[in-house]
Amino acid sequence: MTENILKLNKISKTYIIGNRKNAAKAQKEIQKLHKKYEDVCARNDARCKKETESLLEQAQALFSKEKYEESYRLITGKAIKPRAKDRGAVVHALDNVTLEIKKGELVAIVGPSGSGKSTLLNMLGLLDAPTAGLIYLGDLNVTGIKNKKLPEIRSKDLGFVFQSFNLIPSLTALENVILPLKYAGASKQRRREMAIKALESVGLGDRLDHTPNELSGGQGQRVAIARSIVNSPAIIFGDELTGELDTKMTKEIMELIQKLNDKGQTFIIVTHNPEVAKMCKRTIYMLDGRVEKDQLNRKS
Ligand SMILES: Nc1ncnc2c1ncn2[C@@H]1O[C@H](COP(=O)(O)OP(=O)(O)OP(=O)(O)O)[C@@H](O)[C@H]1O
Ligand SMILES: [Mg+2]
Repeated sequence: MTENILKLNKISKTYIIGNRKNAAKAQKEIQKLHKKYEDVCARNDARCKKETESLLEQAQALFSKEKYEESYRLITGKAIKPRAKDRGAVVHALDNVTLEIKKGELVAIVGPSGSGKSTLLNMLGLLDAPTAGLIYLGDLNVTGIKNKKLPEIRSKDLGFVFQSFNLIPSLTALENVILPLKYAGASKQRRREMAIKALESVGLGDRLDHTPNELSGGQGQRVAIARSIVNSPAIIFGDELTGELDTKMTKEIMELIQKLNDKGQTFIIVTHNPEVAKMCKRTIYMLDGRVEKDQLNRKS
């Protein structure tokens, strides 16, 4: 039960907005150096790895302190002049985040608006690439993985539930849940059985033929959960998955998630709701793109 299934190693995500030339130059050099670092890691060149790693760390530390000129000079040995008239901003959406997710965890990601929760979830779910840092799915380095392979990994190992459910309004609950199985290679009959089982496990065995507008908010969200679990992904990600639900339905959905988690399903969810976070086993507190606190919750 302690198997590591997902690991982020010193992940940064920066957005350069407008005309911040020196920041953009430094970022480019960091990315080049990172590529080199990945190569020496792959080659198992221990000494070169240590050197590159240390240089990368120093350059990134300067970058996150907004010392872009120093960061650039450290890597290239060349000086650039500070530009007083730079217009634009640098957003450090994630700043040097290291995290491990183990099989069977139920993790809440919390923090103020703009603290980097969704960005973090997008990295963990391989929906977006980091500016620097490494992501491992099991033992596999998936940071620089070819785009061609990504959809397959995503549909096989990663499930998603979002705030607005994303159910297709013209399809019934059953048809919505069958949808992700299109690529699973199972027979039509088998796919139907799998979808019915998933809907039964979220307590909707008697609502198979309802369309989304014939369901309550909580039921709609349960269909979305059924859709995410139907092909047994290693991890399910949720961003504000109870955001539009009232207190009672939120509790219902969280109890369902706890039940699925008890059976071994791993969940990582972003939430603003302290009650939701309390029902998770582990809480990761984000602040200004950093992990502020990472703690196990007492069983309530
Ligand atoms: N595409 C983008 N371009 C520029 N900046 C971005 C982009 N996406 C996110 N950001 C910035 O990155 C920071 C982190 O954003 P993120 O969406 O991760 O926050 P959050 O914690 O999920 O917030 P919320 O609780 O409001 O959803 C914010 O300051 C945001 O403005
Ligand atoms: Mg968000």
